[in-house]
Formats: sequence, structure tokens, C-alpha cells
Amino acid sequence: MKRLRLKKSVIHFLIIIICLGVGTWFILNYGQKFFQEKIYKNNYESDLVEHGFTTEEAKELIKLFDDDKLDVILINEPNSKIIELAKEKYFIFDNLSRYISYYDNNPTVSIKDVIALVNTKNDLEKYPTDLASDTSLNKSILVNKYYSLPEDYIPENLVTISNSYAYDDNKVTSEAYEAFINMWNKANEDGWKLIINSSYRSYASQKEVYDDYVKRYGTTKAEELAARPGFSEHQTGLAIDVFEMNNQLTSTFKDSEAYTWLKENAYLYGFIERYPEGKENITGYSAEAWHWRYVGEKIAKVIHDEDITFDEYYAYYIENQA
Ligand code: DAL
Ligand code: ZN
Repeated sequence: MKRLRLKKSVIHFLIIIICLGVGTWFILNYGQKFFQEKIYKNNYESDLVEHGFTTEEAKELIKLFDDDKLDVILINEPNSKIIELAKEKYFIFDNLSRYISYYDNNPTVSIKDVIALVNTKNDLEKYPTDLASDTSLNKSILVNKYYSLPEDYIPENLVTISNSYAYDDNKVTSEAYEAFINMWNKANEDGWKLIINSSYRSYASQKEVYDDYVKRYGTTKAEELAARPGFSEHQTGLAIDVFEMNNQLTSTFKDSEAYTWLKENAYLYGFIERYPEGKENITGYSAEAWHWRYVGEKIAKVIHDEDITFDEYYAYYIENQA
């Protein structure tokens, strides 16, 4: 009887020892980490609150940003718009102070537009002399009112387009040509005869186009319609002005079924609408239903599906990832 009681208390003793051991191990392993995290988070939280954010905002900021970014936030003026901005899809942290100053100066512009306009540099002076288009990007090269090409830039692999698809002396890069023929064939099958009336333009021929517009409409209007030489993507050999054989008016093409067909199908062949209606403040140009740009199928699909311009795509998916 006595031996049995002794045995029982030894077992109890062993169980207590094991529990203590496991408990100590658990505290040493996880407790330290837990308390460290708590103290560390509280440090950022109290720093942010001290900096001028509310406790709620500080908690949100800690959830949204890593330490490096929180450190940057802590050396700048506190602004509760940071949270709204950071929740937008195309938010780029490096543009934060420009978003805030653009928003402060244009309080009626939506957050989404602030992001799009700043990402595409529309808060900066147009036609800078120190920004060059990255010609090594081939079909994803960006040319707009900020990124330009040198006067002597001529794309490689320019080929002359057959008169079945274009008027005399039109050229595009060989890759864009192949894609266009595939698109032309499908459009033809569906009942639309497409025709290209302008494509590759050298710096000199773009200058003629631009000067002519300036003469006819004055500089301000001209710049909504035609690019300054060096700032036209027609110089890349990747842009085409497409119409229908029996409808070649810029004023009516936007209402044609051929245009609807292009809007629905062109991306499948790697072409995107470069200057869409409603995006004039981003592209800097009036809508051009006829101007299509070859970027390849992969990029074209993203631009089509996300309903963004190539300028926005470039800022977020190319420049921001570089
Ligand atoms: N019309 C377009 C913007 C160009 O001239 O390149
Ligand atoms: Zn064009």
C-alpha cells in the first residue's frame, strides 16, 4: 500500500517536472519573440503617434509598410492621406511626396487619378531634356511627352508594308508587321477591311507633321493632336494609324464597327489603343481611335484587362520593377 502511494507521488512529481520543462521551453522559444515584437511594434506605434498620426492611423501604417518605409514616413510631414494612397493598386512608394503635393494642390482630383497622373509624370514639366526613351526595351519602349528619342534614332528591322494593308511607303518593325497581318486576316474574316495610312515616321517627317499642325491650329491645340519631333512613338516603328478601306475620316472612325472590333480584339494580336477617350489628361493627347501601338500580346492583355494606358503600365510594371 505504502509502495503504491510512493509510486503515485513519483509519477506526479515526474509529470510536474515535464510540464515545467515544456512550459519553460515554450516561454524561451516563443515568449521572447512575442514580447520583442510587442515592444518593437509599440515603438513604431508610439513614434508615429508622437509624429502626429492618430493611434488608429499608426496601426494601419504598421500593417501597410515595412520598417524602411516607416522610417521614411517618420522623417516627412505626417499626412493621413498616406493610408488612402497606399491602398490604391498602382501606388508606388517612391512617388509618395509627389502624390501628396499634387493632391494638396488639386484637392478635387480623385486619389486614383492622383496616382495615375503622378506615376506618369504629369505633375512635372513636359518635354524634359534629360529623360531618354529606353530603346533597349524594343516593343515595350515608351515614347511620350516625357520620354523622347534622339533625332538619329531609326528602329532596326523596319519592313515595308504591302499595299494590300497600307498606302504606299508605310513601314513598321518586322514583329509588328507579322502581328498586324494576323490581325488583318481575322478582321477581314469578320467583315472589316483595315488599312494603315501612317506608321513609321522619321524625326524629320514627324517635324513636318507637327509644324503643319502648329501652322493650322496654333501650338496649344497642335500639341494635343501631334507630337513634337522626338516625342512621337511613330518614330519607333511600332505605331500604326488604322482605318477602314471605306472610312478613313478621323472624325467618324470612332463611331465605326471596325473600331469596336479593334477595341475588342486588337489586344489578342498585341496591339493597344494608345490614346483612349477619357484618358487625355494622362496621355496628353486628344483621343485617337485610329492610333494603335504594338506592345506584344502579354503587355496588351494586361493593358486591356486592367483598362490602363501604356503610360500607366510602363510606370507601374516596368519602371517601378526595374
Ligand atoms: N498623333 C500622335 C500623338 C503623334 O503625332 O505621334
Ligand atoms: Zn498615330
